[in-house]
Amino acid sequence: MNDNFVNEFFGIGIQNGKTPENLGVLWRTAQNLGASFIFTIGNRYAKQACDTHNAVKSMPYFHYENFDEFCNNLPKGARIVGVELDEIAQDLETFHHPRRCVYLLGAEDHGLSKEAIEKSHFLVKFKSELSLNVSVAGSIIMYDRNLSKPRS
Ligand SMILES: C[S@@+](CC[C@H](N)C(=O)[O-])C[C@H]1O[C@@H](n2cnc3c(N)ncnc32)[C@H](O)[C@@H]1O
Repeated sequence: MNDNFVNEFFGIGIQNGKTPENLGVLWRTAQNLGASFIFTIGNRYAKQACDTHNAVKSMPYFHYENFDEFCNNLPKGARIVGVELDEIAQDLETFHHPRRCVYLLGAEDHGLSKEAIEKSHFLVKFKSELSLNVSVAGSIIMYDRNLSKPRS
């Protein structure tokens, strides 16, 4: 195991995801890029054909009814990293990912809720003209985490 990745973990999920296909793609990427768990807030996941590696049966999947429930059940010491194309967000290129964190992506139509943006410990974005598909955005974040970058 790469020593850089000792004593750390991450989870990734979506707040009020609308499209089960997007979740299936995100879960498959999460399983293959080192996530420890996946989650949904609000809308629940229904199994999709595009989750061809059956990630949802291979790693813990948590569901939270709302944002408060999510916050109250965070793993101890984990930081919330909101992922949103927002002017107050930090640039991914220079972002130091926390050792232990959960990445929270927004809904396909409305993005992250105001509450989620305000309560995230960090907010991160990457350059794109318009916002990307949510599962593509999650894949970019996980790929970047796996680069040998300093942690916060
Ligand atoms: C299709 S986008 C949401 C678009 C929504 N209509 C809006 O403007 O807020 C779905 C999610 O993908 C993620 N996303 C897409 N592009 C992004 C970017 N350039 N930087 C950070 N997150 C991005 C965010 O989590 C976003 O909530």
